[in-house]
Amino acid sequence: MDCNRPYFFDKDGDERMVKQNPVNWQALANLVERESRTSLPQRPWDILDLGCHTGGFLELINNRFGKRLDGGSFIKSLAGVEPIESARDEAEKRMPWATFDAWIEETPTCSIDLVVGHEFLYLVQDLYFWTRQLKRILRPEGGAFISLGSHGENTAWLRWRKPLLELYGHTSYIYQPINILDTGYHAGFNMELHRLHTQPQTEMRYSPPEDGWGEFVSAKEALDFQQQKYVFIFYPKR
Ligand SMILES: C[S@@+](CC[C@H](N)C(=O)[O-])C[C@H]1O[C@@H](n2cnc3c(N)ncnc32)[C@H](O)[C@@H]1O
Repeated sequence: MDCNRPYFFDKDGDERMVKQNPVNWQALANLVERESRTSLPQRPWDILDLGCHTGGFLELINNRFGKRLDGGSFIKSLAGVEPIESARDEAEKRMPWATFDAWIEETPTCSIDLVVGHEFLYLVQDLYFWTRQLKRILRPEGGAFISLGSHGENTAWLRWRKPLLELYGHTSYIYQPINILDTGYHAGFNMELHRLHTQPQTEMRYSPPEDGWGEFVSAKEALDFQQQKYVFIFYPKR
């Protein structure tokens, strides 16, 4: 991916992404909250969002977890990883108290309690290397919540890859969900698989694709789409 480009898609495409993704970010934050009661450290977390783009999800996390009922906070620090410099700059402006790097390799070892990431893993070239980096940066009692609909079991996604390459130069990698689970397990994680959306979505606003990607071929495919988003939880084996 060309990291000097000003947008991930283009101006309109990025605006659309920022407008459409909060429903997924909310669902991911709900899962973190549920799991935090039993499976995450009971102290403020150092949090990292992988593929944070302009920081919208981090801001949601800040609003959602920044204050506890007892007046404390679930957050010790916030950070993001984002290769596109202009997106990273915008995230920095939005949250001057957070820190941002371009690549996961720049994150210090054993420094993070909670890693989140929404729709970026299909852009990672080497799943094996990335999983080992994840293991390196996470504290043993932490966890990573990585959400993905762009995977090898999603037929719509498999059609969209070609136009995305032609239109935006996005090279995407096909990961089968079972391979993500297997790779994580062999890197030293206890792996969990969840649906991102626990309830089927029974409605979807239909907007015909303007730029040649994102079309559905059937009503069923459109309605099934959100249900094909999975969350892979990586807990270091304890
Ligand atoms: C589909 S967008 C999703 C952005 C954001 N997570 C969201 O939910 O709206 C994918 C993002 O991942 C970033 N990205 C690309 N390659 C990456 C990598 N190797 N590691 C982390 N992020 C990457 C892209 O620049 C882009 O901002």
